[in-house]
Amino acid sequence: MSEKLAIHGGPKAVTIAAPEQWQRPVEEEKKAVVELVEQGFLSGSGTGMPKEFEDEFARFVGAKFCLTVSQGSSGLMSALYAVGVGPGDEVIVPTAGYLGSYCGVLHLGARPVFCDIDPKTLLTDPKDAERRITPRTRAILPIHLCGRVADMDAFLDIGQRRGVAIVEDAAHAHGSDWDGKRIGGFGDIQGFSLQGIDLGGKPVSGGEGGIVTTNNREYYERQLIYCHLHREGIVKELTNPLYKELDSEVLGLKWRAHPLALALARVAQKSLPYRNGRRIENRIKLFDAIRRLPGIQPVEPYAKSRADGLYGGLKLIYKPEELGGLPAAKFVAAMKAEGAPVSGPGIGHLEHLRTIFTKGFDLWGRGRGPLGKDFKPYKRGDFPVAEGLAQRVLTIPSYIEPKDGFLDQFAEAFRKVTANYGALLGA
Ligand SMILES: Cc1ncc(COP(=O)(O)O)c(C=O)c1O
Repeated sequence: MSEKLAIHGGPKAVTIAAPEQWQRPVEEEKKAVVELVEQGFLSGSGTGMPKEFEDEFARFVGAKFCLTVSQGSSGLMSALYAVGVGPGDEVIVPTAGYLGSYCGVLHLGARPVFCDIDPKTLLTDPKDAERRITPRTRAILPIHLCGRVADMDAFLDIGQRRGVAIVEDAAHAHGSDWDGKRIGGFGDIQGFSLQGIDLGGKPVSGGEGGIVTTNNREYYERQLIYCHLHREGIVKELTNPLYKELDSEVLGLKWRAHPLALALARVAQKSLPYRNGRRIENRIKLFDAIRRLPGIQPVEPYAKSRADGLYGGLKLIYKPEELGGLPAAKFVAAMKAEGAPVSGPGIGHLEHLRTIFTKGFDLWGRGRGPLGKDFKPYKRGDFPVAEGLAQRVLTIPSYIEPKDGFLDQFAEAFRKVTANYGALLGA
């Protein structure tokens, strides 16, 4: 017997409202901020609370070196500078990504070269990335989207074999793991974002800010000279004879983080393992309940990692062919009517289809810059996997402390709508 869907006036499968119960420790945040205001410590780096936070984060991920910066994007740009990206170089980035991830490539005078994604994980495809390596390639920039870790075995292998640096975009991946190791503690260099504030913010957030980690002394020193003007002790810390000749104003850029942002991030860092752990547990519970339903395929991390949904929600691939061709938008509307928070379809931006890459853009005028002269514009059809999935990806929230019974109701909404898809066809 068919059940009446809520979109047709039937009872809702989800009756529990405002399911997330976890709340930020606002009182602790206020205390941390007030302390700095009272001390008058509102600018500075390499000392005091900012240095303590860097040391704590370095210990947490297992990195030798850790620097905080003004944003995730500026941190990634300094990481690109650190590995030697400059005018005329190419850096391979996924088209299902984010401009703020690789804008540093452009602004260093290098050219972003897009690659496709793995259809199972929606993450940077290592094989496609390797195919796009040319003599100009200086780095590959895989993204650990939503905390779901890109195939690090493959990327580090490519990096070694082909002599290119792997700059990981770990903007969403604080506490993410690969083969038992935390992101930030191995590999070449990693950039994290501290943008936003919980619940919607990055896994560790303080409004604006970023962190870069590396185990490579040369990369660390290049970041110091690039954008850490007047960092406490900077001249003493530099060991490269070329850099040692500079004074504490190094190359002039000052991209250090605001101490108030770091005070907030430091509070968030304390609850990170708990929040990540709960998000992972709740994802597994929900995915186990819906994995065998027709029409939806939960996007799972690679086998060597458990992390997912640490930022930006969980992803499902919608398969209309298993539901009589029901359009994704109709499926989403029916789920929403059941009280289930499903959004999409959409994969975010397909970066190669941005105007600057379909038309080119004279970044610095007079034909100079990475998208001028010999730049060959991209077009629709260049990345069949990402383009094919763009209208099939659905997003659902990931939960830390959902109210009792909510995940069961959420799973029930999926069961009910997929079982009764016939009632949605043709209308
Ligand atoms: C994947 C990714 N990379 C990089 C960034 C840049 O971080 P920020 O906003 O701190 O500059 C973001 C920010 O949302 C992001 O989502």
